Amino acid sequence: MSRSGKVTVVGAGFYGSTTALRLAEYDLFGAVVLSDIVEGKPEGLALDINQSRSIENFETKVIGATTTADGGGYEKTANSDVVVITAGLPRKPGMSRMDLIGINAGIVRGVAENIAKHSPNAVVIVVSNPLDEMTALAQIATKFSYNKVMGQAGMLDTARFTNFVAEKCGVVISAVKTLTLGSHGETMVPVPSRCTVNGKVLTDVLSADEIKDLVDRTRNGGAEIVALLKTGSAYYAPSAAAARMAKAVITNSNEVMPVCAWVNGEYGISGVYLGVEAQIGREGVTKVVESNLTTDELASLKAAAEAVRTKQADVKNL
Ligand code: LAC
Repeated sequence: MSRSGKVTVVGAGFYGSTTALRLAEYDLFGAVVLSDIVEGKPEGLALDINQSRSIENFETKVIGATTTADGGGYEKTANSDVVVITAGLPRKPGMSRMDLIGINAGIVRGVAENIAKHSPNAVVIVVSNPLDEMTALAQIATKFSYNKVMGQAGMLDTARFTNFVAEKCGVVISAVKTLTLGSHGETMVPVPSRCTVNGKVLTDVLSADEIKDLVDRTRNGGAEIVALLKTGSAYYAPSAAAARMAKAVITNSNEVMPVCAWVNGEYGISGVYLGVEAQIGREGVTKVVESNLTTDELASLKAAAEAVRTKQADVKNL
């Protein structure tokens, strides 16, 4: 089997290290680099992951890289094809993702500038919160073309919605298809008209109230886990989502996934990073895919776009 491509995961917290593990276990990449500013942490985690290779049967090695805010250590990340930015603080119980904007903007900006210097051709996948704003900031700081910078949110929110629908209906996960668009936050837009259970439209399977409960739980999916964990936020489903996006890039699969992408005219919305369905390949977002939405869903998507537009305009100055 030929392995190719280099992927760097910035941030060796639970989200980053689990993403690096998943990427290594795909056994597709030439190398996975895991970086962090905590000295020795990425090297230690890389060693640990590499020692699992003979048990889980994969060859891809993880390389740990301690980095500094002024760019030290980034040589090991050089010429990455894909970079997943998980750097930044997670929420504490009771916090909204937006409460992190001030602190995480400085961290994400610094990381993005260093990445741009060492991996000028990379596709960047941002997962730091608040997601839509940090994605916009990473594009500004890297100066990469819009298609090369995207955020992970829709894959995760959709996966949460799918899980809740499958549990509610008592069916296997594979029987359920769901979709969420909009922001990774208050203005998340679950799209019931595109959700099915065993091929039947969700609205024929559950009542409006039942769907509303599941939609609300999806919208609060991250906060529900933060409240239970008490320290840190979710990482198993988030890392699965981020790793799948990196895989789509490196294999040039052109799969259509819900991601945070630059929208330029689709749905009558322009000039904003927003959760939409997009085709993902070697160049990043190769196409934003518009689907038929109901009047209400489209209105919610437009409202989400305006809400994140205001915040995204502010990140330039952070
Ligand atoms: C969540 C965080 C990762 O939704 O945004 O769990």
